[in-house]
Amino acid sequence: MPADDTSRRRRRRRRLLLLPVLAAAVLAALPWAGRALLWRWEDNPLLRGERLARKVGCLSCHRPEAGVEIPNPGSRWGTVPRFQAGNAMMYAESCADVEGFVRSGAPRAWLDDPEVRRRLASQRLRMPAYEGRLGDDEIADLVAYACAVEGLDLAGAGDPQVAAGRALARRHGCLSCHGVEGAGGRPNPGSLGGFIPGFAGRNFDDLVRDRAEFAEWIRHGTSRRLARNPLIRYFWQRQAIAMPPYGDALSDEEIDQLWAWVGAIRQRP
Ligand code: HEC
Ligand code: HEC
Repeated sequence: MPADDTSRRRRRRRRLLLLPVLAAAVLAALPWAGRALLWRWEDNPLLRGERLARKVGCLSCHRPEAGVEIPNPGSRWGTVPRFQAGNAMMYAESCADVEGFVRSGAPRAWLDDPEVRRRLASQRLRMPAYEGRLGDDEIADLVAYACAVEGLDLAGAGDPQVAAGRALARRHGCLSCHGVEGAGGRPNPGSLGGFIPGFAGRNFDDLVRDRAEFAEWIRHGTSRRLARNPLIRYFWQRQAIAMPPYGDALSDEEIDQLWAWVGAIRQRP
């Protein structure tokens, strides 16, 4: 038998051996390819601001989730205000005030008042000035986040339906998973995107088509439409955190209020 005939056969055998390996690789890559097609990163100022607040140390002093505030002897109210329902509202009345704190460690009016300056100099903890340390975009994200956490300048704030929905979301702990104002993006290992979807971004369009599907998620923690997709089921079985079924804990009227709140968030540019 000619020599190049044998080597050709050997090459063909090697190629045949490679086939199952290739097939296995393609199969293993399928979920990840599907994931890339199906999922979009959550990205918005609130989420960026929240991540930045952790990264640049804001949350070391301001503890949004903790029940206690850090003592701050010498300061006006004796503690560092905790974001969200702490004594923060004693300090900032507007997002412009919040920006003053972030840029200069205090709003202009404080810094112009010699008595306040004296108090600031004597208190144990001072709000650092981040101007120069962070870019304007980063400061804008931080201000958006801090404002939202503190309830300043919220979407649809004048509408009682929206306000009731927002209060329900706080009371039932929706925000602890779905983020401030439904900004999303909090970690969920093993899930399709690796994070919990929000209400503001485009993932919501895919996950919730209408009020009926919204109610289905809340009552049953799932969507019958999406459950038909094997790829989605694959990730659902592996994700660490699932949407809890609230059953009858929320009435139809309350779901309407949550829906109004989500609508207001989504109308924000
Ligand atoms: C070293 C602790 C410390 C760090 C770090 C810190 N702050 Fe502050 N912050 C304070 C103190 C203290 C006050 C209250 C003002 C005072 O008593 O001087 C304050 C006040 C504020 C206020 C006004 C009160 C309120 O809650 O509305 C905002 C807004 C604020 N900080 C945002 C931030 C942001 C955003 C960051 C991160 C970029 C940050 N802070 C980092 C200590 C800190
Ligand atoms: C323990 C964390 C957790 C809590 C609390 C929670 N959710 Fe969820 N929620 C999830 C997860 C995880 C998903 C993603 C589900 C999936 O893909 O399987 C989800 C999905 C959803 C969806 C689908 C669309 C989307 O973009 O998020 C809606 C709507 C929703 N939740 C509403 C709510 C509401 C309203 C509350 C409060 C009454 C709430 N959730 C409380 C974890 C939570």
